[in-house]
Amino acid sequence: MAKTIIVSNRLPVKIKEENGDYEFKPSEGGLATGLGSIYKQGGNIWIGWPGMAVANTDKRQLITKQLAEENMRPVFLTPTEIEEYYEGFSNETLWPNFHYFNQYTEYDDHLWKAYQKVNRKFAKEIESVVEPEDTIWIHDYQLLLLPQMIRESAPKASIGFFLHIPFPSYESFRLLPWRRELLKGMLGSDLLGFHTYDDMRHFLSSVNRLAGIGNSNGKINVNNRLVMADALPMGIDYDKYAEAAASPETLAREVRYRTSVGSSRLILSIDRLDYSKGIPQRLKAFELFLRKHPEYREKVSLLMVVVPSRDKVGKYKELKEEIDLLVGRINGQYARLNWTPVHYFYRSFPLPALSAFYRMAEVALVTPMRDGMNLVCKEFIASKLDKKGVLILSEMAGSSKELSDAILINPNDIDQLVSALKKALSMPEKQQVLHMAVMQKSLKRYNIHHWVNLFMKRLDYIKTEQKSLETKLVDQDILSEIKKAYNKAKKRLIFLDYDGTLVGFNSNPELTKPDRQLTNILTKLTSEKKNKVVVISGRGRKTLENWLKPFDLDIIAEHGIWLKDGKKDWRTITQLTDTWKEEFMNVLEGYVDRTPGSFVEKKDYSLVWHYRKVETGLGEARTRELTSHLKYIANDKNLKVLEGNKVVEIKNSEVDKGKAAKDWLRKYKSDFIMACGDDWTDEDTFKVMPPESYTIKVGSTSSAAKYRVTDFEEIRSILESLT
Ligand code: UDP
Ligand code: G6P
Repeated sequence: MAKTIIVSNRLPVKIKEENGDYEFKPSEGGLATGLGSIYKQGGNIWIGWPGMAVANTDKRQLITKQLAEENMRPVFLTPTEIEEYYEGFSNETLWPNFHYFNQYTEYDDHLWKAYQKVNRKFAKEIESVVEPEDTIWIHDYQLLLLPQMIRESAPKASIGFFLHIPFPSYESFRLLPWRRELLKGMLGSDLLGFHTYDDMRHFLSSVNRLAGIGNSNGKINVNNRLVMADALPMGIDYDKYAEAAASPETLAREVRYRTSVGSSRLILSIDRLDYSKGIPQRLKAFELFLRKHPEYREKVSLLMVVVPSRDKVGKYKELKEEIDLLVGRINGQYARLNWTPVHYFYRSFPLPALSAFYRMAEVALVTPMRDGMNLVCKEFIASKLDKKGVLILSEMAGSSKELSDAILINPNDIDQLVSALKKALSMPEKQQVLHMAVMQKSLKRYNIHHWVNLFMKRLDYIKTEQKSLETKLVDQDILSEIKKAYNKAKKRLIFLDYDGTLVGFNSNPELTKPDRQLTNILTKLTSEKKNKVVVISGRGRKTLENWLKPFDLDIIAEHGIWLKDGKKDWRTITQLTDTWKEEFMNVLEGYVDRTPGSFVEKKDYSLVWHYRKVETGLGEARTRELTSHLKYIANDKNLKVLEGNKVVEIKNSEVDKGKAAKDWLRKYKSDFIMACGDDWTDEDTFKVMPPESYTIKVGSTSSAAKYRVTDFEEIRSILESLT
C-alpha cells in the first residue's frame, strides 16, 4: 500500500538516556507538535534526527528498533554534523537570514558543505524505504536540498515540501552565496507549501530573479516539469487542545498553580528561546507598562515560559543571558513579598501544564519579531473554553493574517505594546467573547487535519496536471497525424484565436496587426476552397474587421457577441441557460475551504465569491486561480465569470466563444475540425469541439484542449506546414 513518508530534521520525539536506558520525550516546536498527531496512520513513517548523538552501534540498533515500533526511522548525526549542519548552516545561516536577522548570519563554506552532506544522508535514508507509489513530504529549512536530491534518483516521485518559517524577501535571500543551489534544491518538489501568501510571493520572486523562471498563479515550469507554490496556513489539532483544557489533570493543576500565584491576573508568554520571538522586547514593554500604570502593580504578573533551544549556538546563549538580566531587573525593582512581577521558567512543560497556563491567563502576549506561523497563540485560543481572554499578537507572525480579531501590534513599537496591554486588561468580557468566538470558529475549521488533507489534495492535483501536460505536447508524430487528417478531409473548419495564438503579446494591443508571415499564412489557408476559417477573438469587431478584411474568413468578435460570415454584415445572437449553480457551488466551497475569510453569496441568478476579509494578496492570488478554474469548468454553460471589487461573480451571460463556435459547427459539417487558442476564454471553444477535433492550446497551463504548444510561432509553423 502506498505510504506517506514524512521527513524533517527533528523527529517528533527526542531520545534521552537514563541509566543506560532510552526514553522518548515529545519534541518542542511548531513542526513536531503540529504534525505529531497525524503521522501514525496507516503504514506512514517519519524520518528524522532523534535529537542527540549516539556513537555506539548497538545503542543505535536498539534505538532504531524502539523507534520502528512507533513508525519512526532515525537519521543519526555525528557531533560534527550536529555542530556544522544543525547548529551551523541551519541555525546560524538559514534561520537568521530567513527571519531578517542578517547581522547574525554566518557565511561559511565549510558549514555549507556539511549541510549538503547531511541532506544527502537524509536522501539515502529515504531511498532505502521509498516505493514507487509513495508520497514524500519534506519539512523545513534544514532540508532545502533534499527535494532535488530525491528527484534525481526518482524522477517521477511525488514530493511535497513545506516551509515552516518565513521565506524572506529577495533582498534578504540574495545575500546568501548559495541562494541558487538552495532554490534548485527546493524546486525538486512538486508542491511547495508556505504559511502565508507573502512567503509564497517572496519565494516566487526569488525564483523569478535568481532562476529566471516566471510563474502563472503559482505554477512554475522547471525544465518542462510543472511545480506549484501555494499558501497553506497550518492549523492546530484544535480538539486536542480543547479537550486538554477540559481534562481533570489540567483542572487539578490549575487549582494547584492558582494557590501558588494567588489572585494575580496573568499575562502569558510561551516561546522557545529564540531571538526571532522578541522576548527581551516583550520584557521591556512589560517593565514600561508597570512604570506607566502603577495601578496594575501587585495585580498583574507575567508568566513567562522560555523553552531551552539551540543553546550551543552563540546568539542563543547571549539571548539567554539578556533575558536573565531583564527578568532580574524587573523583579528586583518591582517585586513585593506577596507579588512577583515575572514568573520566569527556563524549561519545557507537558501539555496539561501548558493547558492550565492557557486557561489561567487572561492575556496571551505573542510578540515575535518574525514567525513563520506561531502555534502558541492558536493553542491559547483553543484552550479558552469560556471564550474569555485576549490575544495580543505581532503583525510579524504568520498567524496574524488569520487572526484579525486579536489586538495586532508591531513588536518594535514599545508604546503600542504598552497600550495593547492596557487595552487587553480592561477589555469588557462581552467584547472578549465576541472576538474569541470568531477566532475559535476559524481555527476549528482550519485545523491540522484540514491542513494535511489540503496539502495532499494540492499535491495530487499538481501530479495529475503534470501527467495531462506530458501527453499533450505537439511533436512530429502528432503533427503528421494532423497533416494526414487535414489532407484526407473534404471539408475543414478551423477556429483561430487571435492574440497570443496567431500573434505574440504586445503591451500595446494596437500594434499586433497581421505581419507579413501571418498575412501569407492566412492568405494560403483561406484561399483553399475546402477550408472555412473562423477567427474567434475577444477583441472589438472594428479592429478585427479592419485587420482581417483582406482574407476570406468569418469572424467571431467580443467573445461571441458579434458574428460575421465572410463579407456579410455583423450580426448578434442571444440565448439564456441557468442550470449550473450546484456544480459551481461545489467548486466555490473548495476555495472557501482554503481561503480563510472568504465566503459565497448566493443570488437568484448568480453566485458571488467575496474575499474582502481575506489576507491582502492571498485573496487576489486566489481570485486569479479561481477565475481560471471557473472559466475552465464553465464549458458551454453560457456563464460569465467576472472579477469585481474584492469579488468574483459568476452569472448568466448571453454569449461566449464556445456558444458562438457551436453556430459554425452546426452550419458547416466538416470532417476536419481544428481550434487553437491561448487563454481561458478559448477553453469555451475547446469544450464544445467534437471529440475527434484537433484542439491546440498555446501555453503550459491546464486546458481542455487535446494538445499544446509553447508559443504562437509554433501555431504559425503548424498552419504553414498544413498549407
Ligand atoms: N511547547 C511545548 N512545550 C513547552 C512549550 C511549548 O511543547 O513547554 C510547544 C507549544 O505548545 C507549540 C510549540 O511548542 O506547539 C511552539 O510552536 P510555535 O509555532 O509557536 O513556535 P516554534 O517553536 O515552532 O518557533
Ligand atoms: C521551529 C522550526 C522547526 C524546529 C523547531 C524547534 O518550529 O520550524 O523546524 O524543529 O523550531 O527547533 P529545533 O532546533 O529544536 O529543532
